[in-house]
Amino acid sequence: MMKRMMVIAAALLALGAGVFWWGVRPSGMDTKPVTPVMPDNVDLAEGKALYAENCASCHGANLEGQPDWQSRDADGRLPAPPHDETGHTWHHSDRVLFRYTKLGGRDALALQGVDFDSGMPGFGDQLSDAQIWNILAYIQSTWTARERAAQAASTEADLADEGG
Ligand code: HEC
Repeated sequence: MMKRMMVIAAALLALGAGVFWWGVRPSGMDTKPVTPVMPDNVDLAEGKALYAENCASCHGANLEGQPDWQSRDADGRLPAPPHDETGHTWHHSDRVLFRYTKLGGRDALALQGVDFDSGMPGFGDQLSDAQIWNILAYIQSTWTARERAAQAASTEADLADEGG
């Protein structure tokens, strides 16, 4: 009798947790998120090759960035930052990284209401969305668990913010 009541209690608890999760789940977990998030089927090998072709000239063959990347040049622009753990690419959500790459720094920041003369060109004319994701996935694949977790948390917060 006691055992049966415990089974029922456990079942009710599980049901409650399920209902609760359904109520609070981030809208980004819907099957068709409006905001861009990294797709599941990325091609890291293609991303690596595309990075070497399109990004390495500025961001470095080993993602090390340009020297003195935190100091503005004579035009007031910042050099290309590293994409490894010494930079801040891993602080940004998927959406921010995608937009920065597709639209370029100036237009991506304008979407956030920031007026900034960025030296980061947009690749929307040269690269498909899938190719951009592959490059970003390659960059992320070089990070340690710590940077990956921080970046994933940033993406989660961004999706929750947007409300889908
Ligand atoms: C002509 C040089 C150049 C090329 C080529 C280039 N970038 Fe950049 N990138 C920059 C500069 C300069 C910045 C920093 C600009 C700024 O402060 O907005 C930047 C910033 C970024 C950022 C924001 C990083 C952060 O921490 O805020 C991302 C993401 C990025 N680039 C991705 C890419 C990818 C992916 C490619 C290749 C498809 C690429 N870039 C190619 C110059 C370049």
